[in-house]
Amino acid sequence: GGVTAKDELGNDVTASSYLDTHGAGDRSLVQGLKGDPTYLVVTDDGTLDSYAVNAVCTHLGCVVPWNAGANKFMCPCHGSQYDSTGKVVRGPAPLSLALAKTDVAEDDKVILS
Ligand code: FES
Repeated sequence: GGVTAKDELGNDVTASSYLDTHGAGDRSLVQGLKGDPTYLVVTDDGTLDSYAVNAVCTHLGCVVPWNAGANKFMCPCHGSQYDSTGKVVRGPAPLSLALAKTDVAEDDKVILS
């Protein structure tokens, strides 16, 4: 049971439109599973990564911003840090960020599961 990624207006996200507006290494938020804010990742070769990163901090649920300069996700609430793949590298977060599998449907919509 996957869901179609949605933009901030609730519209379905297509891979081509996302890649038109996001370059290599970008991580920007869409609405993913359960409506959770989720980062779609653009790989170094400019394609959609096969995994998206759930932005909900595993400590107490703050939305964790991506810090491109530090190449980390850095939680503003209590200082947890996650590497570029969402792996926890500094607590108090107990777990890494959740991942969602990313697929592109026939009609170009981005499906998260
Ligand atoms: Fe992110 Fe506490 S909610 S560190």
